[in-house]
Amino acid sequence: MNAPLYSIPGSAAPTAAAPAPPAEPARTVAAVLAQSQVESVMDELDRDLIGLAPVKSRIRDIAALLVIDKLRAQHGLAAHAPSLHMCFTGNPGTGKTTVALRMAQILHRLGYVRKGHVVSVTRDDLVGQYIGHTAPKTKEVLKKAMGGVLFIDEAYYLYRPENERDYGQEAIEILLQVMENNRDDLVVILAGYKDRMDTFFQSNPGMSSRIAHHLDFPDYSTPELLQISDRMLEATHYRFGAEARVAFDSYLQRRIAQPHFANARSVRNALDRARLRQASRLYADRDSPLSAEDLSTIAASDILASRVFANTERDAP
Ligand SMILES: Nc1ncnc2c1ncn2[C@@H]1O[C@H](COP(=O)(O)OP(=O)(O)O)[C@@H](O)[C@H]1O
Ligand SMILES: [Mg+2]
Repeated sequence: MNAPLYSIPGSAAPTAAAPAPPAEPARTVAAVLAQSQVESVMDELDRDLIGLAPVKSRIRDIAALLVIDKLRAQHGLAAHAPSLHMCFTGNPGTGKTTVALRMAQILHRLGYVRKGHVVSVTRDDLVGQYIGHTAPKTKEVLKKAMGGVLFIDEAYYLYRPENERDYGQEAIEILLQVMENNRDDLVVILAGYKDRMDTFFQSNPGMSSRIAHHLDFPDYSTPELLQISDRMLEATHYRFGAEARVAFDSYLQRRIAQPHFANARSVRNALDRARLRQASRLYADRDSPLSAEDLSTIAASDILASRVFANTERDAP
């Protein structure tokens, strides 16, 4: 006999779909966009996320496909739920998790998933340590993800060819069945480094054939990272003082060349440390009154005190 067929209960609702049934079926692209309010999510994505031009254009393509699919369905032209499983590849901190959240919103607004939440997991959430532990673990995760997006970070760790009977294989088999049987109510996004994902797909053709959309997230340029840092500071009511932005620019140029650089995540961490230094600097002088401007300004010295500037020919501050 074949492996048992897994299908996750609670998702059997007949064509689980649209947020609210519209009074009149949409006949135009504009009507679908207006009814679903999906355009505001896409505009937000364009506005809030710096760079990522290839990713944004792929998302527009996918949204167009889904909108047209809705119009086709009204003419009885759609055969069955389109395959929406995706793969997001790119280095750490390139925005994969952030975009997955937006993608879930888009899918939800267009009625392709009931709830639009994202369940984010890694191998350890799916694979057990002992025989018999993996299937219940994987099924529990799938149950939580139903009606939304299951985001599997570093998905290739599910496959360990060096270990003959690795339990990861069992998780993969369950995922494959659910990705096929529950595709009208669950979208799986696999994420990770591009080269490792390619290798994973070569050894797992079943998984590869179920992924309809591959989005590759490029590394950010230094100017993009600077814009991202402006956004991050703005969001927390901080800003760069005179010279500080230039200092952060040279910080980034050095940091990019170092090991473990993680794009926008490294920017976030560097800004956290700059805020700590700013606080220590302000704290040191107990008697000066501090204006709102003092309290919200990151000074060049808060950046230049970073370890990244140690051991270079820079003039002493
Ligand atoms: N294009 C972008 N514009 C603004 N902030 C970004 C952008 N990309 C990533 N970030 C921020 O950087 C951090 C890391 O992003 P994340 O989505 O977790 O990356 P990944 O999942 O690829 O490792 C998050 O705080 C996110 O908000
Ligand atoms: Mg991530």
